[in-house]
Amino acid sequence: MEAGSSLAQNISGAPPSLSTLQVPEPGNLDDFVKNKPAAIILGKALFWDEQTGGDGRVACATCHFSSGVDARTTNTVSPGPNGIFNSVPGPGATLTLADFPLAGDDIVGSQGVVRADFNGLDLANPLAIDDCTSVDDGTFFPEPRVTGRNAPSVIMAAFNRDNFWDGRAKRDFNGVTPAGPGDPSDPTVLVDDGSGLEEEEVVASPASPASQAVGPPNNAVEMSCAGRSFPELGRKLLNKTPLGLQMVAPDDSVLGALSAAPANGLTTTYAAMIQAAFHDEFHASAELTPDGFTQMEANFSLFWGLSVNLYVNTLIPDDSPFDQFREGNLGALTPNQIAGLDVFLNKGKCISCHGGPEFTRASIVNFSGGSAFANTGVTPTAADGGRQPENKGKFKTPTVRNAELTGPYFHNGRYVTLRQVVDFYNRGGDVMNADKDSRIRPLGLTAAEKNALVDFMLALTDNRVRFRMAPFDGPSLDPVNGTPIAAVGAGGAAAPITPFLNVNHFSP
Ligand code: HEC
Ligand code: HEC
Repeated sequence: MEAGSSLAQNISGAPPSLSTLQVPEPGNLDDFVKNKPAAIILGKALFWDEQTGGDGRVACATCHFSSGVDARTTNTVSPGPNGIFNSVPGPGATLTLADFPLAGDDIVGSQGVVRADFNGLDLANPLAIDDCTSVDDGTFFPEPRVTGRNAPSVIMAAFNRDNFWDGRAKRDFNGVTPAGPGDPSDPTVLVDDGSGLEEEEVVASPASPASQAVGPPNNAVEMSCAGRSFPELGRKLLNKTPLGLQMVAPDDSVLGALSAAPANGLTTTYAAMIQAAFHDEFHASAELTPDGFTQMEANFSLFWGLSVNLYVNTLIPDDSPFDQFREGNLGALTPNQIAGLDVFLNKGKCISCHGGPEFTRASIVNFSGGSAFANTGVTPTAADGGRQPENKGKFKTPTVRNAELTGPYFHNGRYVTLRQVVDFYNRGGDVMNADKDSRIRPLGLTAAEKNALVDFMLALTDNRVRFRMAPFDGPSLDPVNGTPIAAVGAGGAAAPITPFLNVNHFSP
């Protein structure tokens, strides 16, 4: 047998480099945005701004700071549907390697805010804390609440047709909510073309990351006291120095020129950033809404969604060893990684769901219904029905890019090493059920094949993600129950991001 040609045969069908794909963007973006670089600046500032949190401590980045996921280990377990902590003593516990795989129906989620009801804004509060009344919910209090699913990476979300594990953040953004044009509340934005404020239904598409981004800010688990509205969040942030509680590196790849270093924050205002990015008809009206909000406050969800979407679209990890290999640098993958690619494509059938340069067929370009969302036997459908209204325990196929750094794995965060994930597939999943995809069945992989498959997945890490180099750099962050993180500029951080709990991915 001739080694060279059989190799070529075995990896035929490998996806091309990610750099061959165009990043999806709303076809009608120009209807809203007058200056895309300005919108990206706004989006990055909003994504990282902890003042968004009702407690002045939670930004989008707080749950997505480490390779696009949450690497905190203290108070990140949700007790799951049975309401009982099976794997740790209770709220506030710190996860260790010995807790994996998690016991019972526990979930590794992300922590947001302490449960509280919103009374009103407190614009003079120097720590950006809203006026709220905390509520003992008998589960997490006085710790922050923890989400019931593991946070997927924001890196690569640009390519997803519908975001979230169940795809509920729709491809078509309605300017206000995640649910798309089908939202029964018929959301509208306010447009003033010179003759006063008019309510208008809008659609920007494809823009699932925008639909996604308007979900968390006023969500009472993730970022806000219960009952805050988007116009109120707009009023709050328009009154604040952008990133006023955080440091921005002077060489930040997007925000550097506006950095107020050595002081915190930016040398501009959110109003100025919105004016630079969006057409006047969405924010320049002199008329107030019946509730007394300015047009800029009232349309804050539109600016938030589209600008964060455009920032997320810049987070493209297309320089992994795999990409370099596919661009002709055949030495970029080791022989063992090439053997793992063969398993990924052939014996493991991983490619049928994790296909295309995105390594997921839940993407816009490579979308395939049956492979985009699948029941892979991770949990019983009764524990989490996944995609609705089907309710058959189907979850969105996540990308495998940077999986080295995005553990723990699956929607419930049950497994912590990639070898554990490979063993899961090799035994045909955990939960046998009528809705399980027929491709999830025992694979009969040898120890060497499992090892090679893990090794291949490690070749999907972009070193710029690992070292937080541009475009993956960002302001400082002070996550509750986490380690403070210094601001990082375009050149990256000295210390790399390591796998969750520093695991060895080859360990079962
Ligand atoms: C409290 C932690 C937390 C905060 C804060 C948070 N997220 Fe998330 N994020 C999650 C979790 C958990 C999920 C998965 C939820 C689900 O699928 O039901 C998620 C899902 C996502 C996804 C979907 C990725 C995919 O592949 O489906 C994106 C994109 C995202 N978040 C971006 C954001 C943005 C933008 C913000 C700020 C507006 C934000 N997140 C705030 C925890 C958080
Ligand atoms: C039938 C479609 C399908 C096939 C085949 C498949 N996967 Fe998956 N994969 C999924 C889905 C869906 C999830 C998310 C499941 C969940 O969380 O409930 C997932 C999750 C993962 C994750 C976790 C990623 C994360 O961020 O949590 C990894 C790693 C992974 N798959 C690797 C593989 C490998 C390796 C193979 C081949 C042995 C494979 N997959 C085969 C659909 C598939």
